[in-house]
Amino acid sequence: MYDIAVLPGDGIGKEVVDEGLKVLDVVASIHGFKYKTEDFPHGSDHYLKTGELMPDSVLESFEDFNAIYLGAIGDPRVEVGLVERAVIGGVRWKMDLYINLRPIKLYAEHLCPIKGVTPEMLDILVIRENTEDAYLGIGGFLKQGTENEVAIQDMVYTRKGVERCIRYAFEACKKRNKANRLTLVDKANAIRAQDIYTRVFEEVGKEYPGIDRDHAYIDAACMWMIKNPDWFDTIVTTNIFGDIITDLGAMCQGGMGIAAAGNIHPEKVSMFEPIHGSAPKYRGKNVANPIAAIMAVWMMLDFLGEPEAAQTVENAVSGLLSSKRIPSLDAKSGLSTNQIGDMVVEEIRSNANS
Ligand code: IPM
Ligand code: MN
Repeated sequence: MYDIAVLPGDGIGKEVVDEGLKVLDVVASIHGFKYKTEDFPHGSDHYLKTGELMPDSVLESFEDFNAIYLGAIGDPRVEVGLVERAVIGGVRWKMDLYINLRPIKLYAEHLCPIKGVTPEMLDILVIRENTEDAYLGIGGFLKQGTENEVAIQDMVYTRKGVERCIRYAFEACKKRNKANRLTLVDKANAIRAQDIYTRVFEEVGKEYPGIDRDHAYIDAACMWMIKNPDWFDTIVTTNIFGDIITDLGAMCQGGMGIAAAGNIHPEKVSMFEPIHGSAPKYRGKNVANPIAAIMAVWMMLDFLGEPEAAQTVENAVSGLLSSKRIPSLDAKSGLSTNQIGDMVVEEIRSNANS
């Protein structure tokens, strides 16, 4: 029995999460596992109504679950970033979910905006550090609003934080067993503090003789991602660069409408989410594409130790995309949110019977 905490959040969050849960339901019955869900209201509506963001007691109660399933957070009525930092950041940082795992996989050639890139050429696993860097919020403003204003925000990297992330990346690369190449992406030439990544990468890498150690600065990595995406197998990078490069990766695989992430602590409850935003203008319109939320279920199942159920979800989505039955990943596919969820459920059922 898996206990899943569901945080639908803001905007289109609930609509897409509902479709993800439909898919979870059908794979549970096919693969014979049980689960139950509990909903949590935290997000901008809840904040506007009650003044509560994300209490520590709720974060503590999440420890009793097997996974957390998040929709989307963000609302223009609230101060920029406030609820995101409280809810997404709260879970990531206070629960120490130190890996942000982002598969970048192309399921159908027509979805990729880069000429000539085929599914065989784009299958990258990005491991983004998820608890350090500029996200710690150390810094502030001096003489704010004056012509002498100074704004400072520190990028913080700890030995423990860097090492556990890099070790996870080597393990993930080994487990994947594709090109067995791990690329460290940083900007250690300009941000000298990132030399800690260079050194730890070398040190830990010696324990993995079967994995080729590769390196690219973030600017060059962005260029290579477009020019030769097939070069990359597994990437490990800092929090802020991982944030940026995974959005670039999402576009390469067809857009934010397919991209999902796992916020992972390998020994603890972890959180799975579509990486798109809350798209307030589409709220309640039943047009948002739920595929990214469904792919978050794919990742969650894999984490929970149900790799076959995960594969079932991935196969269904892959089939619907490559056959163009789901023609696009945006809100203009001509299909409603519910219809897409139903199509994935149907595809799973028919694949199971064939
Ligand atoms: C992401 C998001 C968050 C981040 C925001 C909402 C704080 O962009 O999950 O990638 O920067 O990590
Ligand atoms: Mn981001």
